[in-house]
Amino acid sequence: MSGRTSDPREITLSINGTVHKVAVEPRRTLVDVIRDDCGQTGTHIGCEHGVCGACTVLVDDEPLRSCLMFAVQADGRSIRTVEGLQTGDALHPMQEAFMRYHALQCGFCTPGFLMLAVAALEKRPDLNREELVDILSSNLCRCTGYENIVKAVCAAAADMKANLDASP
Ligand code: FES
Ligand code: FES
Repeated sequence: MSGRTSDPREITLSINGTVHKVAVEPRRTLVDVIRDDCGQTGTHIGCEHGVCGACTVLVDDEPLRSCLMFAVQADGRSIRTVEGLQTGDALHPMQEAFMRYHALQCGFCTPGFLMLAVAALEKRPDLNREELVDILSSNLCRCTGYENIVKAVCAAAADMKANLDASP
């Protein structure tokens, strides 16, 4: 006899390079499973209906709102969260720029902005300020720190580009 559609299913999520095998009910969202089953609580849950972008993670390097995706849809896929940005003790240039430009107040929206901006610049390192503002407009900051967020992302864009140009 086949199981009920609500029965937990075994899935495999690779999160920041670590494989997590978990059993999840099909109704559960990716963000809940990332946080509650995989212990990666850096990704935040805001509106839970796809508006604020706080829950943005990268799935196969594409920024997605993890409150809008079922965890079972991410089975076998590679996920990057804010915990994976730094290398050892070294912060990612985007994280450093957010610190330098004071681009966060409460910090609730920050993981989503970081992942969104990193994904955009990994794909197109030459994005200009106007293009970056357009991309960032998809996420909300309730502390209204947009001015400094844009400054930080533009500075990080320059840093990331310089690193890219310097790499062999
Ligand atoms: S919590 Fe996912 S978009 Fe707001
Ligand atoms: S820093 Fe508080 S919501 Fe953005």
